[in-house]
Amino acid sequence: MIKAITGTNDILSEDSYKWRELEKLVNEIMSLYNYKEIRTPIFEETALFSRGIGDATDIVSKEMYSFIDRSGVSLTLKPEMTASVARAFIEHSLDKKQSLSKLYYISPMFRQERPQAGRFRQFHQFGAEAIGSQSPLLDAEMIIIAYDIFARLGLTNLKVKINSLGVTESREVYKEKLKEYLRPHFNNLSEDSKKRFDINILRIFDSKDDRDQSIMKEAPLLMEYLDDVSLEHFNTVKKVLENSNVPFEVDPKLVRGLDYYCHTTFEIISGSVGSQSALCGGGRYDGLIEQLGGKPAPGVGFAAGIERLLLACKNENVFDVKEEPLDVYIILLDSELKSDAFEAMLELRREGFKADADYLTRSIKAQMREANKFNSRFTLFVGGDEYKNGEYLLKNMSEGNQFLFKTSDMKGLIKKIRE
Ligand code: HAM
Repeated sequence: MIKAITGTNDILSEDSYKWRELEKLVNEIMSLYNYKEIRTPIFEETALFSRGIGDATDIVSKEMYSFIDRSGVSLTLKPEMTASVARAFIEHSLDKKQSLSKLYYISPMFRQERPQAGRFRQFHQFGAEAIGSQSPLLDAEMIIIAYDIFARLGLTNLKVKINSLGVTESREVYKEKLKEYLRPHFNNLSEDSKKRFDINILRIFDSKDDRDQSIMKEAPLLMEYLDDVSLEHFNTVKKVLENSNVPFEVDPKLVRGLDYYCHTTFEIISGSVGSQSALCGGGRYDGLIEQLGGKPAPGVGFAAGIERLLLACKNENVFDVKEEPLDVYIILLDSELKSDAFEAMLELRREGFKADADYLTRSIKAQMREANKFNSRFTLFVGGDEYKNGEYLLKNMSEGNQFLFKTSDMKGLIKKIRE
């Protein structure tokens, strides 16, 4: 028996309606903020991600689904969208079409992580990227968009964490300070952190190892080394969030796991989903476009994990949307009338009603059970004495009352269903 690959999920019809409603909400909110949808291929050249996200990051060094195709090129299933959007921005010279590109997406992503609750190998993100402006208003806007969507879902157990990584120059000065501080502790660091010491020292803040954590408690913070411009940028972001009624806290240790960030980084954490608690993450990436070979263009964005969001909704008992019931279920009393019943059903569907019937020639009892299962508002009986008299019997399933209509009077029948 062939099964789905570990860490991937089938979204069955009980859930797919919820997914569609969530996607509808994302489309609606993105449109309010004037972001336009972008769709990019599922796979890209591996070099895009290694150059864009950074060779030393966990995503690139451990988690990518990469393969060599028949022409010998290394390809990778996209682990995130920012690099792909940046590639498309450069490839299509989007800067020439619009001074600021405001783009959003909803798409599957792939990372070979150890699966657990809220962490999958194929998962789905929606997110936004604004490329072409350094305005701190956009950093704040990203956080507000995510927060608005989460609030519309009804989520409340949320914590917005923000930080600033400043510009490269001050970050490099700080990295040296951090190295100086860590050198005497080097032998006590975990093996992972020892490796990060040279290649990605900021990420030691993310270590879950107890000893690492106690060493990092006393470490100097990047915030203390920010230059004036970075501080002003960060202060504006904070002020806008305050004025927009988005509660947040500054977490000076929030470095995030991708290399392209500068200035603002942020995450929104849920207290309702266990250890994989980041519902979204994002930040500013002013050097990415240039690093990928484009003309310098600053950018900022975020992405949210749909599986985690829906898990948070389930655990908080919110966004419990259910598909609309059927309008009409046809009960066929006489199997010879199959085609007549089908035609009537088709007419109802073409009038915009959700209608269905039994295709398995089952008993009337079984058909009634089916109508109840679909919560159908009406049942339409085709056959029996009524049909011999040239009539349909329509039954309102919640009130129990019945109506007769001439088979030639579909208009009357439709009017009744519409009432
Ligand atoms: P990220 O923090 O790697 O950022 O992912 C964003 C969100 O995707 C996470 O907060 C989480 O909700 C979800 N996510 C990540 N990995 C998994 C997984 N294995 N299973 C389930 N959900 C997952 C980025 O991807 C950046 N591209 C965000 C960004 C956009 N920064 C700037 N623009």
